[in-house]
Amino acid sequence: MTKTILLTSQALDLAVDALKRDDLVAIPTETVYGLAANAMSASAVSKIFAAKERPFFDPLIVHVPKSWSTLETLLRKGLIQDEFQGGRLRLKQKEVTASLMRSFWPGPLTILLPKGETVPDLVTSGLSDVGVRVPSHEVCQQLLEKLQLPLAAPSANRFGRISPTNAQHVLQELEGRIPYVLDGGPCQIGVESTVIKISEGSVSILRPGNVSKSDLESVARTYDYKVEQIDSVLDGNQAAPAPGQLASHYAPRKQMYLASTAELKQILLKLSEKNIRKIAVITFSTGSLETWRIVGDSLVDQKIQFVEEALLSKSNDPATVAQNLFGEMRRLDDSSAEVIISEKPELFHGLWHAIGDRLSRASQKIKI
Ligand code: TXA
Ligand code: MG
Repeated sequence: MTKTILLTSQALDLAVDALKRDDLVAIPTETVYGLAANAMSASAVSKIFAAKERPFFDPLIVHVPKSWSTLETLLRKGLIQDEFQGGRLRLKQKEVTASLMRSFWPGPLTILLPKGETVPDLVTSGLSDVGVRVPSHEVCQQLLEKLQLPLAAPSANRFGRISPTNAQHVLQELEGRIPYVLDGGPCQIGVESTVIKISEGSVSILRPGNVSKSDLESVARTYDYKVEQIDSVLDGNQAAPAPGQLASHYAPRKQMYLASTAELKQILLKLSEKNIRKIAVITFSTGSLETWRIVGDSLVDQKIQFVEEALLSKSNDPATVAQNLFGEMRRLDDSSAEVIISEKPELFHGLWHAIGDRLSRASQKIKI
C-alpha cells in the first residue's frame, strides 16, 4: 500500500521527477484524468496495468508535448515510423494526417499511426498502430513540455469503471495504488477523446468524442476523404472494432437503464414489479426533470420514489451534459438508490453522439 500524494500545479517539478524515475502520476487532461507513465519504458508502463487491473489486450494512448505535434517531429522522436512513403495515395494520406493534426491538436483527438520500434509493445498491446494525442489542458502541457517524454495514459479509473473528471474521483479509484495525483481542477470536456484511424480514402472514427464527424469532415473533404463512424454499440452490434472498445465499459456498479420520457412509466412499473422502488434519475433539462417528476409522482401507489436526481444541464446543452456526466453517474452510484435511470439522448450528432455512446456502454437493456 503506497500513500497517494495530491500535488498542486505549483508542485509540477515533483511530478516531472516521479515520471522520469518511471513512477506513475495521475494527470489532468481536458477530457478525463489519465494515469501516466513514461511511454518509452516497459517497466513504467507495466505499473499502469497493475494499478488499474487492466487487461494487457487494451492498448494505451500516448500523450506528447505541443512542440512535438507534427508528423516530422513524431518520426524524429521514434514514436512513429514512416509507412506513408511511396505511391501518390500514400502521400495524400500523409497530407490529410498532417492537416488533421494542425486543425485539432492540441485537443481531444487521438490519431492511430504506425508505431515506431522504440515504443514498447506493451503500450499498443502488440498492435502495429500507436494512438497519439496532444492534450490541450494547460497544466498537462506544462508537464509534458518540462518532461520532454511521451506519456502513456489510460483514463485513471480501475478497469471498466467510470472515468474520473476531477482529482477526488482519481483518489476514489486509485488511492493507495499510485504515488501521485497532479490536481489540475475539473476536466472541461468530461468525455474521452475521439479516436480515429486514417486509411487510403477515409477516416474512421473508432470512438466518438468532442471532435465530431462533421468537424473531421470539414478537413477531410478538402482531400476527397470520407469520414465513417464505426459504431459497435449504437448499432446493436457487439463486435468490437478496436481492442478495448468493450460494450460494457464506463459502468457504475448499480444497474442503469436508459429511457425516453415516453418509456419512463413502463420502466418504473416493471422495476416496481421486481420490488425495486428507490430510483436515481439523470436528466438533461429542467423541462424533462419536471416531466419525470410528474411521472414518478403518479406512481406513489407503487411506492416509486426518486431518491436522487441529477440535472446535467438546465437546457439540453451537450457540452454541459458531457462535463457533468461521469461525476453525476459516480455520485448516484454511491447513493442509496437501487437503480439509475437516465434520459436517452434524442439527438445523435456532435457531442450527443459521444454522450449516447458512453450512456449505452454504462447501461443494461430492459424489456418493457
Ligand atoms: O481522452 C482520452 O483519450 C483519455 C485521456 C486520459 O487522454 N484517455 C483514454 O484512454 O480514454 P483509455 O485507455 O481509457 O482508452 C483508450 C482506448 C482504448 O481502449 C482503445 O479503444 C483505443 O483507445 N486505442 C488506443 N490505442 C489503440 C490502438 N493502437 N489501436 C486501436 N485502438 C486503440
Ligand atoms: Mg478508459
